[in-house]
Amino acid sequence: MKISAISIFTIAACTLAQANIKGTVLDESGAPIHNANATIRVLPDLLAKARVLTNDKGDFLFDNATLNIAKKASKKQEQSIVIHKTGFLPETLSVSSSNKNYGNITLKRDPIENKIDTLMANMSIEDMIAQMTQAKAPATSCGGKICGSALEGGGAYTADFYINAWKQKIPVTYGKDNVHGVADVSGATIFPHNIGLGATRDSTLVRKIGQAVAEEMWAAHIDLNFAPAITVPQDERWGRVYEGFGETTELAVSLGAAFVRGQQGDHNDAEWRVITTLKHFIGDGATDKGFDRGNAKITNKVLHEKYLPPYEAAIEQGSMSVMASFNQVNGIHQHVDSALLTGILKTELGFDGYVIADWEGIESSTTPGAAGDYSPGLVTGISSKDAIRNAINAGIDLAMVPQSAEAFVKSMKELVSSGAISEERVKDAVRRILRAKIRAGRIDNPNGPSAYVGITNNIGSAEHRKLAREAVQKSLVILKNKKALPLATDGKIFVTGSHANNTGLQCGAWTKSWQGGTDEIPGATSIQAGFDEVAKGTRVETAEEAGTIVYVIGETPYAEWFGDFRGDDFDNKIINKIDGKVSFRTTDSDISQIKSWQASGHKVVVVLITGRPLPITSLINAADAFVVAWLPGSEGAGIADVLFGKVKPSGKLPHTWPKNAKQIPINVGDGKKGLFPYGFGLTY
Ligand code: BGC
Ligand code: BGC
Repeated sequence: MKISAISIFTIAACTLAQANIKGTVLDESGAPIHNANATIRVLPDLLAKARVLTNDKGDFLFDNATLNIAKKASKKQEQSIVIHKTGFLPETLSVSSSNKNYGNITLKRDPIENKIDTLMANMSIEDMIAQMTQAKAPATSCGGKICGSALEGGGAYTADFYINAWKQKIPVTYGKDNVHGVADVSGATIFPHNIGLGATRDSTLVRKIGQAVAEEMWAAHIDLNFAPAITVPQDERWGRVYEGFGETTELAVSLGAAFVRGQQGDHNDAEWRVITTLKHFIGDGATDKGFDRGNAKITNKVLHEKYLPPYEAAIEQGSMSVMASFNQVNGIHQHVDSALLTGILKTELGFDGYVIADWEGIESSTTPGAAGDYSPGLVTGISSKDAIRNAINAGIDLAMVPQSAEAFVKSMKELVSSGAISEERVKDAVRRILRAKIRAGRIDNPNGPSAYVGITNNIGSAEHRKLAREAVQKSLVILKNKKALPLATDGKIFVTGSHANNTGLQCGAWTKSWQGGTDEIPGATSIQAGFDEVAKGTRVETAEEAGTIVYVIGETPYAEWFGDFRGDDFDNKIINKIDGKVSFRTTDSDISQIKSWQASGHKVVVVLITGRPLPITSLINAADAFVVAWLPGSEGAGIADVLFGKVKPSGKLPHTWPKNAKQIPINVGDGKKGLFPYGFGLTY
């Protein structure tokens, strides 16, 4: 891919005056550095305002575009140009005028590179290939060598994995999807899924959650997180909507970066830092009809304006891993998209960490669009060997191959010895993986930060649960309130419905199992139990005794494509997964139940547990008050806190709420008028 000059935000050329900021970037020997990026920043904004790459003579040039930026930025904001190239220390230049020639700018080699050299000095090609392989824990052998990494999927956790893994000269990282807590570890704090955090609009809170999750990770000996998802979900039919913070770029930028800051520290230097993984690169939330793993049609402009900024912000914050996505962009599967992985992510954005494949994602690139998993061991086939060649050459550095690690290693050896994959590419991949391990402190301190490692008291600690409860309080969005809320603490309240007293349902998927379910979550407080905690004595056991009825219903848990709505017949319906099969139930029975309660003089407050906005207008119309609780996690008492008015409601919709299924997809700025706009939320 040829990149000459790219502006991150397309800025109309300014004709008023001529801007001309230029310079030449050299290394310490005086040789020009090609493809270094020069980025104009306006502090304190994390996002670049304009970016260009150096040509093969090391020259960069900003022209008219920058003038506009200078004009847009208020006088008090400090502007700077950061010159960056993987392997070198960045240089920051201050910008005083729109006409300046900086002359020669010398980048110094980053001392971390010497450390990498030392680690790699005695590595054979076989060692390097093993370093590029992520097997399924507890396995750590990759072709007889020690793998670079291991993972376990949703539901699995090996408590003593670290004992052998951390003894290695280069520790084997252990990756898990701690997407809302260390959720496969018994007794962990389960935070709301990201969609709920999006409703809080509170980046300070999300930063604290990032730290709390890192502390619980170290307590459980997990040093690699497959989080945060910084997707920008556009279609409510997608089964992974709840994994993202919301439908706007702005939410993914601010909350994604905040989560990374919490997990790694302000400058990736916190003692408790873990490796975060930004996912899924890119366009996972933009697929046609919201099909999981489908195709996203994205123009270059929309890519830069809508989907890249969250990556830019989180990488700027120090995230060292990016996960390639199962979807295609303009027909190209993201595991083999060299223009995006190498061209945009590694070159244009200057990302110097590693790109990890998704679960058998390299293999899946041979059947783009197929939802579902792939048979074990398939990677030995010819087409899969091609897929490996294409993916590694496109820019995948670490292969997540839980079902085919040995086959991957075997194919890699053949591909490298035939020259189909260059040794140079292998070395670059390994450098990236080691850079991440060094920055995360895994090489200098293989046993992890002693203040946090194995401190089981941190798992589900009172402090973390308090934080999760605050997140629940702030995430609740009140869509409707006809004098039914706040509840009176001396009233008689009947708390009922399928989701009232089931902690599995309120946590959703990626909790104790991949798909989630109805099993109770150890240490969690149900919504009903929360009422007893917050307003003891108000809860009654029958509708007859009650004044107000709190009716807690919602979606049953699902992960990935299991949650897709395919077809269009889901108006006034709620997803209801039975025995692994997705089906829908209508809300008719809920509506008649509500009406019969109302007919006998009760007020009915509906609390909805959901991973997305649902086109259930008739149900909303029927209720006296309607509260969206998203997937709140383990601290069910946060709901009673708000319903009783002990905490003021403040949550705001992270998605536009559709009137009916026909309106979907519906997003800010598309001209459609939903039932409730993005940002809506009542208070009292
Ligand atoms: C999924 C993973 C999941 C795992 C659980 C796989 O099929 O793709 O995301 O963690 O199953 O075993
Ligand atoms: C999912 C990823 C996850 C991985 C590991 C995949 O199926 O798409 O989000 O990190 O599994 O469990």
